[in-house]
Amino acid sequence: MNDKSRSIDEDKQLAADAAVAEVQEGMLIGLGTGSTAAYAIRAIGRAGIAIEAVATSEASANLAREVGIKIIHFSRVERVDLTIDGADEIDEGLRAIKGAGGAMLREKIVAAASDRMVVIADRSKRVETIGVAKLPVEIVPFATAYVSAALRPMFDAVDLRDGGRVLTDSGNVVLDCMNSHSDDWDRLAGWLSTVPGVVGHGLFLSEVDAAYIASGGIVTRLERRLTSG
Ligand code: A5P
Repeated sequence: MNDKSRSIDEDKQLAADAAVAEVQEGMLIGLGTGSTAAYAIRAIGRAGIAIEAVATSEASANLAREVGIKIIHFSRVERVDLTIDGADEIDEGLRAIKGAGGAMLREKIVAAASDRMVVIADRSKRVETIGVAKLPVEIVPFATAYVSAALRPMFDAVDLRDGGRVLTDSGNVVLDCMNSHSDDWDRLAGWLSTVPGVVGHGLFLSEVDAAYIASGGIVTRLERRLTSG
């Protein structure tokens, strides 16, 4: 029975445990960033499965080392077996918005290198169609004013996160973009990639292979090969 009294944190743990069940000895695992990914990192540590891992942020690398997971620097890695990561929004077509934690550039690189990328989330992240969450865009600090001006006509608001004082792990700043004027996400993602100074963004339109979404103690698995026909 779907138990609505279960907390969001319990659901994050359940989604994480479901994804960690895919982890097998000898795999190279991509570790995502954020509070849900942290549940998965701790679960892998607890399970004591002999794996190596790459991390999508310094915070996740530090947590992984704390729980006994061997971390390899991604600069020496060509491919990853399985990546487990959170999301800010995910829809029925497994399109996601990521980057509230500012790690979307590394998250997308690791996802691209992964044979399988699995999102874990509680029910609050599941949406009919993406676009309510702010869309984070990572830019080189040198281009802050130029890229902000270029993006402004496309959104209701474009805000420099933390006034530009907090840098991502790659030394960049983040523009949080609210309410896109278009829901043609493929086109928007393509256009963003052409703006000089933009190095990454939180639209994950094709990277996610599967999602474990927990709601009231029940975990639902969505698979791209089943949802996209
Ligand atoms: C990190 O940059 C994000 O992409 C996270 O994956 C996302 O914000 C999910 O974080 P929570 O699990 O803490 O909600």
